[in-house]
Amino acid sequence: MKIGVPRPVLEGETRVALVPETFAKLRKAGFELLVERGAGEAAHYLDANYEAAGGRLVGSVGELFDQADVVVLAHLPSSEQIDSLRSGTILIAPLSALTNHDLIRRIAERNIAAFALELVPRITRAQSMDILSSMSSLAGYKAVLIGATNLGRIFPMMMTAAGTITPAHVLIIGAGVAGLQAIATAKRLGAVVEAYDVRPVVKEQVESLGARFVMVDAPMENAQDKGGYAKEVSDAYKAKQAEALHKHVRENDVVITTALIPGKPAPKLITASMVRDMKPGSVIVDLAGEAGGNCELTRYGETIVQHGVTIISPKNLPATLPFNASQAFGKNITAFVLNMAKDGAINFNMEDEIVRESLVTRDGQVVNNRLRQAMGMSALEQQPVAAGA
Ligand code: NAI
Repeated sequence: MKIGVPRPVLEGETRVALVPETFAKLRKAGFELLVERGAGEAAHYLDANYEAAGGRLVGSVGELFDQADVVVLAHLPSSEQIDSLRSGTILIAPLSALTNHDLIRRIAERNIAAFALELVPRITRAQSMDILSSMSSLAGYKAVLIGATNLGRIFPMMMTAAGTITPAHVLIIGAGVAGLQAIATAKRLGAVVEAYDVRPVVKEQVESLGARFVMVDAPMENAQDKGGYAKEVSDAYKAKQAEALHKHVRENDVVITTALIPGKPAPKLITASMVRDMKPGSVIVDLAGEAGGNCELTRYGETIVQHGVTIISPKNLPATLPFNASQAFGKNITAFVLNMAKDGAINFNMEDEIVRESLVTRDGQVVNNRLRQAMGMSALEQQPVAAGA
C-alpha cells in the first residue's frame, strides 16, 4: 500500500504526520511512502530529507490523494480534504470523533475507512501510539514557558550584588500528562512548585518531581475510574476543594491548569473571586480552554487581563513546537500502522482492541459502537470482522 503524507492545511497548523526518521521501518514492512512537496517545511523537515529516507515526492495534494491508499494527518481533516479523498481510502488522523459527529457522517458517506487516533485505548501495548500523551507533554512544557515569559519576575532564586531575589511560586492544577511535564519544567527553571490533583494516587509522582502536593481537608473519595481517569466528585468535596485551592491560588505567582475529565466540560476550579484575590501581575495559563476552561474567566484562544491578572488560554500548543510534535506524532502513527501491517497492507484485525476501538467508519457506515451510541445510533450487532483492506 502507498501511504500519503500531505502538507498541513489548517490555519496555524505546522505539524506533519510522518517524518523521515521512521520511513525505513515502514518501508521494511512493505509500504511505499508518498510525500506532498513541502509537507514537512513548517516543521523543519525538508523534501530532500524525505527523499533521502526513500519517500517519493509528489507535486500536489490532488496527485497525492489520487495515488495514496492510506492518508495520514497530524490534525483534523478539513472538509475540502474529506471531499477530495478517493472513495475507499484509509484515513488515519485525530478526528475528535466523539464530539465531531458531522465530520464522521461525512467521512462515512464518502466511503472512507477512518481511524480516530484519539480513540486508541490507553493500554500498555498502545503507549507508543498515544498521541494524546505525546502532545500533552509538549503542551505542559510550553505552558510553563508562556507563564514565565508573561510574568514580570524570574523563576529561580538569584544571588546578586544587589541582594537575593526570591524564586517564583508556581501551582499546577491537574497532574496528568500535561501537568506532570509542567511540574518538571517549572522545577528546572528554578520555581518553587506545588500541584493538586483530584486523584490521590498522583501524590507520589508529584513529590518525586520535587513539588509539594496540595491536600484537600476532606475524606478522600474514589476519584478515579477503572481506566485510571478522573471521575466527578461530590459537591461536598468540591466545596472543600475550592476552599483549599483559593488559598493556594492566592499565594502563587503562576497557576497552570490542566484538569480534565474525558468527555465532560472542564471542571471550573478557579472562580472570579479567586482571581480577584491573586497578586497583581500573576499569570494563569489555562490548558483546558477548548473544553470550556478551568478558570471561570478564561476565553479560549485569548489573553485577557482581569484584576491585574493575565489569563492565557492557548490554542494548539503542540503546533508551536512543530519539530518535536511531528517527530512524536510520526512515531505514534508509525507504531499504529506497524501494529496493523501485514504484507505491506493494513490488516483490519477486529480481534485487536486497538483496531476495534479506533476504527470509526468503514464501507460507508459508522462501525464503532461507542461512537454510534454518542451519535444516537443503534449498536451494530457484530462489527465487521475482515482481514485485508
Ligand atoms: P490527563 O487526563 O492526563 O490529565 C488531566 C488531569 O486532570 C488528571 O490527572 C485528572 O485527575 C485531573 N483532574 C480532573 N478533574 C480534576 C479536578 N476537579 N481537580 C483537579 N484535577 C482534576 O490529560 P492531559 O493529557 O494532561 O491534558 C490536560 C489538558 O490539557 C486537557 O484539557 C487537554 O485538552 C489540554 N491540552 C491542551 C493543549 C493546548 O494546546 N491548549 C494541548 C494538549 C492538551
